[in-house]
Amino acid sequence: MRCIADTAPGPTVSVLPDSRPPVTLRGFLPSDVPFVASIVAEALKEHYDPSLYGSLSHEWPDGFLVAAESHDVPTGFLLGVSQVEREARILMFAVERHQRAQGIGALLMAAFLDRCRVRSFHRVTLEVRVSNATAIRFYTRNQFSVVDLLRAYYSDGENGYQMARELP
Ligand SMILES: CC(C)(COP(=O)(O)OP(=O)(O)OC[C@H]1O[C@@H](n2cnc3c(N)ncnc32)[C@H](O)[C@@H]1OP(=O)(O)O)[C@@H](O)C(=O)NCCC(=O)NCCS
Repeated sequence: MRCIADTAPGPTVSVLPDSRPPVTLRGFLPSDVPFVASIVAEALKEHYDPSLYGSLSHEWPDGFLVAAESHDVPTGFLLGVSQVEREARILMFAVERHQRAQGIGALLMAAFLDRCRVRSFHRVTLEVRVSNATAIRFYTRNQFSVVDLLRAYYSDGENGYQMARELP
């Protein structure tokens, strides 16, 4: 994938894969809710009240990044919040199943980390199921390390890892 525009300070980033339709990174829009909810249901097996996305986006609009394909349809997103001073936490992160392993997740993560640096955050944390080897590998490649084991963290009783990375 090739970046044809830079992230900050503009609101969008257009990305042109060599042989695929362009993917655009942009902020969350209220009209994204059904698409984001569908990705969450499929990828994360969770169902949230639709109003949750808007209210979380309101708290830190730049922390909610959407990757959209042609016709501006969301194909992946990363939703970060900041609940601890100078720290971000990745609450939700998923790419539509058929669009994975094309670099969209890496683009979302890189843009998110840039936005954290703009806010002078020094640390980013997240939680992941211990069984989610694909995501753990992705995060490790993006310089996150396991910092804690969260016993029975998920509603079905599965343990989680807390992972974190420092920001230079
Ligand atoms: C985790 C997740 C968001 C990553 O998104 P993604 O778009 O697949 O991420 P990328 O494409 O950037 O990277 C994924 C893999 O594809 C590879 N890849 C990237 N571009 C590629 C390309 N053009 N050709 C082949 N492989 C490629 C990467 O090297 C990476 O491999 P690795 O993890 O073995 O090192 C995605 O797997 C997902 O939605 N999972 C389900 C939801 C989930 O588990 N979320 C995390 C909850 S904590």
